[in-house]
Amino acid sequence: MASTNGAHPRLHCVVHPLLKVHLTRLRDQGTPPSAFRDALDVASGLLVAAALQDLELIDQPIHTPLQATVGQALARPLAFVPILRAGLGMLAAAQRLAPDAAVWHLGLYRDEATLQPVTYYSKLPKSELTASTVVVLDPMLATAGSALAALELLQIAGAKHLKVIALVASPEGLSQLAAAFPDVAVTVAAVDERLTGPGDPWPSGYIIPGLGDAGDRQFGTG
Ligand code: PRP
Ligand code: URA
Repeated sequence: MASTNGAHPRLHCVVHPLLKVHLTRLRDQGTPPSAFRDALDVASGLLVAAALQDLELIDQPIHTPLQATVGQALARPLAFVPILRAGLGMLAAAQRLAPDAAVWHLGLYRDEATLQPVTYYSKLPKSELTASTVVVLDPMLATAGSALAALELLQIAGAKHLKVIALVASPEGLSQLAAAFPDVAVTVAAVDERLTGPGDPWPSGYIIPGLGDAGDRQFGTG
């Protein structure tokens, strides 16, 4: 289901025909916000399932109606960290797969002029940070400034078992993540061509071909 790519030592680019179909809907500028949210939800489910394939399990003794048997439970707590706003569109799919996971919200936006991330909200727990598998959810990994800021915040707070799930990444962003967090697994649906720069007819720092502004397209604010 997954293939690796040289841009990051722990990059998994998930390969699945339905993921490609939903990613195409997301890229299409004619897709309205409701259909965009639906496609992001389905794509996120496929990505989260692939990203969490290596979760450790422990035995859990239970009784079926017929007899005692041994099932499995997650070995460590799980937490999802949606990056507001766009990461919210990945959360419901993640929670359907892991309903007992905690949700730690982080609000970050990218300053349009500097492309630097600005943190405006952070709701991390007082305990369980160190023990938890912590999964950052954000559809777009462009310069990776936002993902790096999130990972730094989480690391400073004590998180040790970190993962990132994005829908579309740029090669530039993956290089930044590889330099700062080579051990953090990154799961994506696609690695696109490049970021826009000063010579392009669009604002700088957008992923090409990408899908535009993931927050605006979900919430109809473009
Ligand atoms: C988008 C996206 C990422 C960030 C990616 O958020 O959801 O968080 O940009 O860009 P980067 O890799 O260069 O940091 P945005 O800042 O547009 O905020 P929004 O989700 O509230 O629209
Ligand atoms: N944020 C987005 O939503 N899209 C991009 O292409 C880059 C940053």
